Amino acid sequence: MEVYSEGEKAKNHKPIIECPDSVKAGEEFEVRVYVSGHPSRVDHFIGYLDVYFYEEGREFNPVKILRAEFAPEYVSPEVRFRMKLERSGTIFALTYCNKHGLWENSKRIEI
Ligand SMILES: [Fe+2]
Repeated sequence: MEVYSEGEKAKNHKPIIECPDSVKAGEEFEVRVYVSGHPSRVDHFIGYLDVYFYEEGREFNPVKILRAEFAPEYVSPEVRFRMKLERSGTIFALTYCNKHGLWENSKRIEI
């Protein structure tokens, strides 16, 4: 299976992850994940966005954090949520476009 992260279509398909580079263990912080500038039409839209966390030292990875599904026409693909961590790791985000497939990005967070 192909998962894309680069190329001409990356700029409006690849999820953008905004969160701190480092946080304190057990302290809540905000994460924003979104796609910028993509159409939201019935024939061409971002259908869903998944977020996972790969936690250092965990026996089985990754942990599924959330899935958001988006209706075309009405919403833009964006989620904001709060999380807290005990150990460093990497957030992975995936977005699915009904025309252009699955796109990924990731961001490391240090404790
Ligand atoms: Fe697309």
